[in-house]
Amino acid sequence: MTARILSKATAQGALGATGILALVLSIIVGLNIYYGSFLPVQSASFSTFVDNPVDLKSAAHQASLAKHAQNASLGFGEIVYISMPDRTDRQDAMNLLAYSYGLKLKLLPGVSGADISSKAIPDEVPQRLRESELGCWRAHANAWRYLLESDMDTALVFEDDIDWTPDVKQTFETLSLQMQNSTVRLLEPSDYERANAPYGLDWDILYVGSCKHGANPDFKPLIQIWDDPDVPDARHLTQKTLQALKEFGLTDAEIGKKRVLVPAYRTECNTAYAITRQGAQRLLFAMSYAGLHGAVDEDMVRLFREGRLKGYSITPPVFSQFRVGGAKDTDNKSPGDPRLGHTINGKGNLRGWSYDIKGSARQAMVASLQINVWEDYKRVRPDTFVGAKESS
Ligand SMILES: *[C@@H]1O[C@H](CO)[C@@H](O)[C@H](O)[C@H]1NC(C)=O
Ligand SMILES: *[C@@H]1O[C@H](CO)[C@@H](O)[C@H](O)[C@H]1NC(C)=O
Repeated sequence: MTARILSKATAQGALGATGILALVLSIIVGLNIYYGSFLPVQSASFSTFVDNPVDLKSAAHQASLAKHAQNASLGFGEIVYISMPDRTDRQDAMNLLAYSYGLKLKLLPGVSGADISSKAIPDEVPQRLRESELGCWRAHANAWRYLLESDMDTALVFEDDIDWTPDVKQTFETLSLQMQNSTVRLLEPSDYERANAPYGLDWDILYVGSCKHGANPDFKPLIQIWDDPDVPDARHLTQKTLQALKEFGLTDAEIGKKRVLVPAYRTECNTAYAITRQGAQRLLFAMSYAGLHGAVDEDMVRLFREGRLKGYSITPPVFSQFRVGGAKDTDNKSPGDPRLGHTINGKGNLRGWSYDIKGSARQAMVASLQINVWEDYKRVRPDTFVGAKESS
């Protein structure tokens, strides 16, 4: 009996609750039907958009998007650079350069191959791969992961021995205008790309600092060429780059005046490259989860040739390696440690060099930091100079 009463009460309670819930729901639905036209904030902003549409294809919109290239990350989400923790000399240089050029660079520590657990080495790694090459792969893989863990659409990845053309921001603004009107895309840009992406997002990798270039000979018409005042002339190009420009069909008169963009096919060196989220995902999949078949840049070339990565490369590049000669130039083999008695020969930062770029961010920085205080006093405040009198 008690049990029956209880269950009846429970049933009534349940019915009551359902009734109230139904009432509340019907009031909400009713209110929504009645006030629906006023309520949603969305429709207000939508009508603003309709009243005042931004023409995503207009030259004015394209120009304003291209201006993002002038920001501290050159129109990419962030710039990260890879540097072995003990190369504080190179980190000092990157810090100085970033500050001189109004760039924001984030250090991602390089990895020593010896610190990678043998369990963490990808499948199918060839025997010939050096420990240092494995470390280099790991550092780049960490950069890909960094992008995926962020909210950014793209990241630009630098190695720490880099130099660039002093007019780098203008170069990227010009590149953005070209890429927004790309003639080598597979598909038209989406509205999201037109609205937000200075370089589009139809690529996994955008090579902007490579040392070896080449297009797929089966697709010769896929090439975009434009006038760029920030291109170096022939005597500043390596033989490889000069040869590539000729293969792309540039005449002697055009070399030194034009830059070329092609779908990446045979591009080497990871001195500077941008990645999209999709690119980071494909790289991490193909070059970690599924295996690794060579040094990081070699394996990327394999994937491009097989058509399993999509990208573009720019010739001449905007970034290039800065060289001082000797052991300081590489962390990839025979590092050399003076504490172990190794000799560190080389010409030093002030006599270093780079090819393939117009001018040198490093040399321009050195020049901009030179002052002669006493000469300035003589020139600006000659009245204060008595030195000549005293010594006579
Ligand atoms: C890109 O195309 C638009 C529309 O077709 C045009 O107005 C604009 O001038 C072009 N920009 C460049 C840099 O060629
Ligand atoms: C630079 O522009 C890009 C593209 O709009 C943007 O994602 C990035 O956050 C900007 N960087 C800075 C430092 O403002």
